[in-house]
Amino acid sequence: MSTPDAARSGTFAIGGDLVVNRLGFGAMRVTGKGIWGEPEDPAEARATLARLPDLNIDFVDTAESYGPEVSERLIGEVLAPYAKGTVIATKSGLTRTGPDRWLQVGRPEFLEQGVHLSLRRLKLERLDLWQLHRIDAKVPRNEQFDAIAGFIRSGLVRHAGLSEVSVEEIEAARKYFPVATVQNLYNVANRQSEAVLAYCEKHGIGFIPWFPLGGGDLVKSTAYQAICLKHNATPSQIALAWVLKRSPVMLPIPGTGKVKHLEENTAAADIQLSEEDFVTLDRLGRT
Ligand SMILES: NC(=O)c1ccc[n+]([C@@H]2O[C@H](COP(=O)([O-])OP(=O)(O)OC[C@H]3O[C@@H](n4cnc5c(N)ncnc54)[C@H](OP(=O)(O)O)[C@@H]3O)[C@@H](O)[C@H]2O)c1
Repeated sequence: MSTPDAARSGTFAIGGDLVVNRLGFGAMRVTGKGIWGEPEDPAEARATLARLPDLNIDFVDTAESYGPEVSERLIGEVLAPYAKGTVIATKSGLTRTGPDRWLQVGRPEFLEQGVHLSLRRLKLERLDLWQLHRIDAKVPRNEQFDAIAGFIRSGLVRHAGLSEVSVEEIEAARKYFPVATVQNLYNVANRQSEAVLAYCEKHGIGFIPWFPLGGGDLVKSTAYQAICLKHNATPSQIALAWVLKRSPVMLPIPGTGKVKHLEENTAAADIQLSEEDFVTLDRLGRT
């Protein structure tokens, strides 16, 4: 078997100028249980990160809140100095009070601190892609957008994105800064963000589906199993192949703390679903 290669997923230019292979990596899972603290198997988590350049994965998603700090710190320790063209995308706007506990903080001074601490942990001088993890309902959203525009103006951030937003929120943010990416929950079995995806396609905005491996009960269906068999692929690989085929602006970031799973996920870039398979899965996912 040839080495899995994310380059075979095709490319997308984030913000029109940062070209990455579409199949990326989500670094939320290189932390402890509840996305809290150090990973259970630190050597395996580090080996997973170290394997990324061999597989041509040059788009890595993280956040200061993963661990917190742990994911960004490990990325900095294992991958810096980064291979040419590597884009590390991070996020701020959530604080942590324990395992599985996430609280929104969108005050401009907190976001600005987030930018500076991410730069330090990731060992970067500029963040290629910085995303607002959530729009904080307790803070006027325009203050949050204005702060982001300031990060871009000052050169700390090259491109900025949003997470878990509606079309109306993207349009409001675009009055302040060019929205380069949107990161929403999306997979073959969860299609609540179809309208946002359509908006991203229309405006050349990268759409980063989180939980891209999700398939729910769909994967147990005879039709899904038949497509897995036909491609000699796992349910996770078919889920990834489907999102990749769904749209040219799709940038999936499957996450794992295990080298074996990373390699398996990357091999999905080689799966070419037929139109018929694609439509079958599409229909199953919408029901
Ligand atoms: N913006 C947001 O609000 C938000 C929210 C959640 C996540 N994210 C981002 O999106 C990324 C992906 O999201 P996610 O981690 O929730 O979903 P995911 O990548 O679809 O699924 C990850 C889960 O699947 C397992 N897994 C991975 N590869 C596998 C394989 N080949 N076979 C079997 N199991 C496998 C992982 O466990 P193992 O470690 O055991 O492989 C983990 O439990 C995160 O890393 C993060 O960067 C963003």
